[in-house]
Amino acid sequence: MLADFETRIEHSELAERIARWDRAYHGADSPEVTDDVYDAARRRLLELEARFPELAAKSPASRAVGAVPAEGFGTVRHRVPMLSLDNAFSAGDVIEFDGTVRRFLGLELAASPAYVAEPKIDGLSINLRYERGILVQAATRGDGAEGEDVTRNVLTLPEAELPRRLDGEAPALIEIRGEVYMSKADFLALNQRQEAEGGKVFANPRNAAAGSLRQLDSAVTAGRRLSLFAYAMGETSEPVAASHWQYLQRLKAWGFAVNPHVRHCPDVAALLAFHDEMAASRARLPYDIDGIVYKVDDLELQRRLGMRSRSPRWAIAHKFPAEQATTLLEAIEIQVGRTGALTPVARLTPVNVGGVVVSNATLHNEDEIARKGVRVGDTVIVQRAGDVIPQIVGVVENTPRGAADFAFPDHCPVCGAQAVRPEGEVIRRCAGGLTCAAQAKERLKHFVSRNAFDIEGLGDKAIEFLWDLGWVRSPADIFRLKKTNDESPLRKLENCDGWGKRSVEKLFEAIAGRATIGLERFIFALGIRQVGEATAKRLARHYGSLESWMAAMEGGDAALAELTSIEDIGPAVARDLLDFFAEGHNVNALGELKKAMEALGGRVEDARVVEAAASPVAGKAVVFTGTLTAMTRPEAKARAEALGAKVMGSVSRKTDYVVVGLDAGSKAAEAAKLGVATLTERDWLALIGE
Ligand code: IVH
Repeated sequence: MLADFETRIEHSELAERIARWDRAYHGADSPEVTDDVYDAARRRLLELEARFPELAAKSPASRAVGAVPAEGFGTVRHRVPMLSLDNAFSAGDVIEFDGTVRRFLGLELAASPAYVAEPKIDGLSINLRYERGILVQAATRGDGAEGEDVTRNVLTLPEAELPRRLDGEAPALIEIRGEVYMSKADFLALNQRQEAEGGKVFANPRNAAAGSLRQLDSAVTAGRRLSLFAYAMGETSEPVAASHWQYLQRLKAWGFAVNPHVRHCPDVAALLAFHDEMAASRARLPYDIDGIVYKVDDLELQRRLGMRSRSPRWAIAHKFPAEQATTLLEAIEIQVGRTGALTPVARLTPVNVGGVVVSNATLHNEDEIARKGVRVGDTVIVQRAGDVIPQIVGVVENTPRGAADFAFPDHCPVCGAQAVRPEGEVIRRCAGGLTCAAQAKERLKHFVSRNAFDIEGLGDKAIEFLWDLGWVRSPADIFRLKKTNDESPLRKLENCDGWGKRSVEKLFEAIAGRATIGLERFIFALGIRQVGEATAKRLARHYGSLESWMAAMEGGDAALAELTSIEDIGPAVARDLLDFFAEGHNVNALGELKKAMEALGGRVEDARVVEAAASPVAGKAVVFTGTLTAMTRPEAKARAEALGAKVMGSVSRKTDYVVVGLDAGSKAAEAAKLGVATLTERDWLALIGE
């Protein structure tokens, strides 16, 4: 049925209004309407488009949630973060996982929680938002906190796998999560077509699925065959099941494709048996799977288990063994990383390893080369597993031997400075520091990478190019690039190979769009040794703002003590952080960067407090001591952190509360001495409203 005249008018007015609000909100940073009014209008627009798809074709605005770069995707902030999974590689790892689950929950040895085992589909995860039963938005996982709005493209998936409207009774709001993938047959057919037409050939079905879903032109996506399996839940307005197993049944009833090889398992033994069965039959499945996911079945137990910074405690992915192949080692090259580490990389005769063509692999470090006896000219075994860089596992016996052992360089191949290997370490590092171009370039590449500043259009090649021109030598230069370029004769960049007027404009837009950024990404982007995403997040949450973090990093012993009081930050990481700030040039570069961002109207945004700031314990420093009765210690700690509290290991003047369990020892005494408030376990539960 086509939309009638009135509906068409309503639709076009809505689309126009929303586009205007978007411009005001994102462009001028001054919203014209409240979020509620905006959300209601968008909901209505998408509802109309779900009913009359021909309207969607005319409305670019329906795609536009969040920042709307002229031709990019909008950004979607996930209301419930999209997590990844911890990996298990052996039966031992799985047994340990089960043990951790039981200990956390304080279960008796005899009582095993039931699990659900599901194939781990090798695609990309998606969040599907349904309001009053109608699909209103689809977003990719992105970095877990923010993804891309791919609603348009998702509408090209088959209705029989991804319903546009939920069948039967559904909550007012529900987010369904699952995996978008491409079947092996569709992948092969696509690559044949691409080859014939001179288009991009994809390395594996997962890349093909991702490349197809993230197409700016949905007509292209429509020409690719994508599929979906639903398997998880995001935000919901009400509970929809008591167990994951029940939830899967509801997904089917609503009209989703649920993988047929899911199994309810009473214990670990059943999980392992299922894993082995699937490992034996995986080659015959019509799509790629790379392991089995185990999930605690009871949703109440899942809630209690909660999550770590990146993954839930209630699930784990048991990976299949890595796939291997043999090939010729043609050469060994040395790469210099952003911290100066020299890494040997094997150049290989290209070989297909489990469906992916591999031509480079890592050899880790000089000891590994020696230990494996690898020499140029050898036939070697390469393996790859999931996302990890392919590795050389060893040399095949009885192959013609290369002339000599590989001589690992003792100087940096890029800047010529000495490469030193400290006593007891396996990594040799270039001592060139600031003067080494390789290190500086790698730091810049890290700075703009996906989980850091994520500046679209500024990939590795562009950085190399801008570096060679001398235009970008430090992060601040990126934000000053437009100025540099304007002043240079005739906007040189536009006339450079591979760049046109439009791509330069887009790059400047992308840079300006990132002049405002969250504190955790900012910290991660600095590339401080050992400070990965998880640590950056903890630092951001602990210190709150860039200013207070920087101020705290000045102060010697006190700074060290405060750093090590943060969960998962040990003395080594704390040292690296303080070393970074002890270098005047780092502090200067940071100041320059901040200034350059501010000159573009940007800033570093303070970290968000985890749950509602209304939580009475948000931002409070809490110490647990003694034996708790209502929950185990890890559970109490996780719960407190979820409410925004900082859980500390020892009592100091900065402690807000000491929660005293049974048989508490010196910490309770210390609290009394320092005059810190002590709470019984009951007081604590009352305080957090449980
Ligand atoms: S559950 C909170 N179930 O694996 C956990 N994930 O490595 C949510 N994946 O990002 C994920 N098949 O893209 C789950 N049956 C399955 C899955 C699955 C594939 C992907 C998913 C996730 C990644 C984690």
